[in-house]
Amino acid sequence: MMNFIYLHCFILFVLLHGVISDHRNVLDSRVCFDDKFSFGVATASYQIEGAWNVSGKGESIWDRYTHAHPDMVVDRSNADVADGSYYKVKEDVALMVKLGIGFYRFSIAWSRILPIGLSNYVNEDGIRYYKELLAELRRNHITPVATMYHFDLPQNLQELGGWTNPIMADYFVDYARVLLDTFGDEIKIWLTFNEPYTFCEDGYGGIEAPGANSSGFEDYLCGHNVLRAHGMVYRMFDKEYRKKIGGHMGITLDFSWLEPATTSVEDQQAAETARQFYFGWFAHPIFSKYGDYPPVMRSMIDANSKRQGFYHSRLPYFTSKEVEMIRGAYDFLGLNHYTTYLVKHGSRRISLQPSFIDDMNVIKFQRDEWPKTNSSWLKVVPWGFRKALNWVRVNYRNPKTLITENGVAFERGLHDTKRVNYIDSYLRSLHAAIHQDGCYVIGYAYWSLLDNFEWTRGFSERFGLHEVDYQSPNLTRTPRLSAKYFTSVAKTGCLPNSYADYTYDI
Ligand code: NOJ
Repeated sequence: MMNFIYLHCFILFVLLHGVISDHRNVLDSRVCFDDKFSFGVATASYQIEGAWNVSGKGESIWDRYTHAHPDMVVDRSNADVADGSYYKVKEDVALMVKLGIGFYRFSIAWSRILPIGLSNYVNEDGIRYYKELLAELRRNHITPVATMYHFDLPQNLQELGGWTNPIMADYFVDYARVLLDTFGDEIKIWLTFNEPYTFCEDGYGGIEAPGANSSGFEDYLCGHNVLRAHGMVYRMFDKEYRKKIGGHMGITLDFSWLEPATTSVEDQQAAETARQFYFGWFAHPIFSKYGDYPPVMRSMIDANSKRQGFYHSRLPYFTSKEVEMIRGAYDFLGLNHYTTYLVKHGSRRISLQPSFIDDMNVIKFQRDEWPKTNSSWLKVVPWGFRKALNWVRVNYRNPKTLITENGVAFERGLHDTKRVNYIDSYLRSLHAAIHQDGCYVIGYAYWSLLDNFEWTRGFSERFGLHEVDYQSPNLTRTPRLSAKYFTSVAKTGCLPNSYADYTYDI
């Protein structure tokens, strides 16, 4: 009898052990980020706030551009109202609380704080609005990450030439001082600029606001002054604020991975040239060991300028003092990554017309078979994320990095399995970059909390974890399946093994 009981116990033990270790195996096989890794969401002032001329806010270049040229936006919309987030602080923070995120990256509208861009007149209501947002975040233990500039220059400053005018750097320093004095007690993680490549190339080299359309010329002037402005603000922060209020300051740069189209030496070189032009333009002066523009940019633009009959290079020169001021001006890198391109060597003959694309002289394209999204430029290529992060690690001595944006637009609808797959596959790639390759990444923000105004694509491209009903009077927000997925990721730090793991109600 005794033996029988022992046998039973033994069998039970073996079975139970099997169940437990099976369960562990399931858990062990999950992809998990470590405890310190933080998940968040990102937005930007013009894209969500609305209230474009309310309570003393001044006009920005995007207000002017969308009002003066509705034809430049695919659905002829503007962000006068957008998501009405100016009126929905509590509601939006409540969505974040449900997501279980650790940080919120938002931007401050320069013309809401300084209506004409200059520091002699501060708009109290602008301060009130961001203070309210900060208080609500604090109450809910969500860390604010603030971008000082996300594309919306005060129109008044554009009248002076905007970022092509060197004085803009001084005005930006004044604005940054107001922000640090006013919000420095609350905001400990700062980004000076969001995606300078995008707003210099598309805004000054192309036809997004302010629409200067002067490629190979005004885009370089813009970049030059933005880099100076970033360096000046960082040095001011370091010297005058760091001891007093603490905190960290970086810049957000966008980096689509650029993969050689073939193994030929020319295409390998072309891909490297493209990385230096698209990313190194802003990254090299700040994050590289020697600072200044990437040597390949310097030599190609100098040579082309000469051939075109210019006495001076179209790419301005920094003084050696400026090189030193900008070099190393970071506590961390903010990185936006969405997609990947293939690159072949180009064979352009230089015309008299300056052009960024001609200066770089490469051909960039995407494979038709890569999964499409609702943005023409964005194909789903998760492996490129890992490669981009490793390129940063190798070239810039593995800087501390925060993923400030990654996301995707699909059609309307709540059952967005394609978005879930996008995020999941990109997070796996990120995980490999961190845990297999040693990239120093401390957090990840999904773009975006909500559907919002996607610049010249208007409301036609929806990136939100929450769908916004633009027909409803109170701009109703509804969580998509991806919000449930992201909640599970943010709360557990692990990627769910299956659909069933996150289809609970939030
Ligand atoms: C980058 C920009 O920072 C943001 O404003 C934009 O909406 C997203 N990418 C998606 O295109």
